[in-house]
Amino acid sequence: MYLWIHLIAAVLLLLVVMFALTKKDNHITPYVITARILYVVMILDGLKILIPAISRNIPLSIVKVVFAIGLIGIIEMMFASKMKNQLNSKKVWLTLGSFVVVFILGFMLAQGRPFI
Ligand code: HEM
Repeated sequence: MYLWIHLIAAVLLLLVVMFALTKKDNHITPYVITARILYVVMILDGLKILIPAISRNIPLSIVKVVFAIGLIGIIEMMFASKMKNQLNSKKVWLTLGSFVVVFILGFMLAQGRPFI
């Protein structure tokens, strides 16, 4: 149940961030607020699923959390760039790539759950 919430929030966050960064104008405040609500959900929910994950694989759990927090930082920097009209396609790809890395680490850590 907590893993489903984490997964759904992760997919929603990806969609919200990509919509915001590829929007034609830079009025993205509603997207920024939604993304921040999703971070809170993911951090609280992430802490809950972290306890069993740590006992299974300590190094991967640490790497996953560090990269996830790094991703949140990157997203915030990209929102700021977008609002100042300084975003370019390289930065959008960097954000997408960081999402891919965190998703891969998350799926590795969860070992196929909640699907298997
Ligand atoms: C931007 C933020 C984040 C994204 C995009 C993200 C994404 C993901 C994804 C896609 C998975 C795999 C879920 C699945 O297999 O169904 C996952 C797993 C996991 N995430 Fe995150 N996550 C984020 C933040 C966090 C944070 C802040 C924590 C810890 C405080 C955390 C802890 C975990 C843990 C422990 C797992 C593995 C759960 C298990 O082993 O069952 N995540 N994450």
